[in-house]
Amino acid sequence: LENRKMVVVSNREPYMHFHEGKRIKCIVPASGMITAMEPILKACGGLWIASGSGDADRETVDIHDKIQVPPEEPKYTLRRLWQTKEEEDHFYYGFSNEGLWPLCHIAHTRPTFREVDMKYYRQVNENFAKAVLAETADEEEPFILIQDYHFALLPEMIKREKPKARVAIFWHIPWPNPESFGICPWQREILLGMLGADLIGFHTQYHCNHFLETVNSALESRVLWENFSVSKAGHTTLVKPFPISIAFTLKDYDKVTPKSSAAHLLQENGITAQFMGIGVDRIDYTKGIIEKFLAVERFLEKNPTYQGKFTFVQIGAPSRTLLKSYSDMQNAVEKEAERINWRFKSKNWKAILLLKRHHSHEEITPYYASADFCMVTSLHDGMNLVAKEFVATRGNNDGSLILSRFAGASQELQGAIIINPYDIEKSADAIKKALEMPEDEQQLRMKQMRQVIVGNNIYSWAADLIKSMAAI
Ligand code: G6P
Repeated sequence: LENRKMVVVSNREPYMHFHEGKRIKCIVPASGMITAMEPILKACGGLWIASGSGDADRETVDIHDKIQVPPEEPKYTLRRLWQTKEEEDHFYYGFSNEGLWPLCHIAHTRPTFREVDMKYYRQVNENFAKAVLAETADEEEPFILIQDYHFALLPEMIKREKPKARVAIFWHIPWPNPESFGICPWQREILLGMLGADLIGFHTQYHCNHFLETVNSALESRVLWENFSVSKAGHTTLVKPFPISIAFTLKDYDKVTPKSSAAHLLQENGITAQFMGIGVDRIDYTKGIIEKFLAVERFLEKNPTYQGKFTFVQIGAPSRTLLKSYSDMQNAVEKEAERINWRFKSKNWKAILLLKRHHSHEEITPYYASADFCMVTSLHDGMNLVAKEFVATRGNNDGSLILSRFAGASQELQGAIIINPYDIEKSADAIKKALEMPEDEQQLRMKQMRQVIVGNNIYSWAADLIKSMAAI
């Protein structure tokens, strides 16, 4: 990367500023994409362009809408782009999150496509293209790393004006089969936009294959299966898997996160119990939170001796709450927790403790470190970094991970107890297995998973991606 300017583009910004009384508070939003990309920018420096979204964001930037971050020890520049209300409604909520999000996640929520959403999706992609071009005006061959489904059109827009720029787009969510993707009225436009990139990354080979099959069925471009690339009008796009990861290095490997005991953490929340499971998700219909609660209920039903002794803590960050599908999901999650807690009602104990607010990484870590197990039940997920973060905190190699086979992480973390979250009975049995797993088996499984993550951490992910870009 020496002598090259690196620009990262995403919709969600890594730091959001909010008013809190007379103070301004800064938070890191709940996003796997941020968890992954932040350490890279911290290590390499550069420029990150993203949408401003906190209510105090405008007060913290300079006249060029830039701010040096992280606030406590600046390492790179964040440039905020502002969206109008219409842009936010149609680009972010509309086409990105009611169109592409359900389209790419096979979680049985029907995508909604509106012409007006697509109009603003194009417009916001153009706004970001202009910003990238202005920021790289003094350089012929910058590296541009575009993040996620909000910016499918951006690669082509940038390359049209700046053919020598190296452009990659990383798709953090799954890519469905060609029949499913084919219902998108703008599938050609989306595919052509993405194929402007020199490199398209997904988490798994499976998603790469789906993407190439979609190109094959929707466009006249040539798919070169022997090297997983697409050739169109003299331009070649390489399509490759890059399983994303976290900032977990050999230096961190032997660090033991100080534990507070599970009993103590639960006590702080008014609960007396000795065993604890933990789940951490944005409240999103793709995460299988209801299925997870049903598994907890079934486990307690089948194993009554754990009633009064085991509590499942679910940290749920509210997300995209202006969309009905998300506010409905929030209500459903709350109701389900209440119903189950009522069913097993007992003094000073709850089956499920739902902590429904944004938690910082520092707040979550003690739960990861002291839980008996962590449970990830995604109905469909690109990777899922919660699974990897939990494993990274277990310096003692104890504890278990219950992991959905529909999360990309299940292909790497074979030491996990792999479940189908739709199968409530087996998921309930997985909870029992996690709680009663012999110590030596826990150690064996946890070590395998920690070695996988150390071997493929976010720095090797970035190095692979940048090497692949440079080799083109
Ligand atoms: C997923 C996406 C990210 C997104 C995150 C949070 O992980 O891949 O791009 O930032 O969800 O969603 P939000 O809409 O709050 O940015």
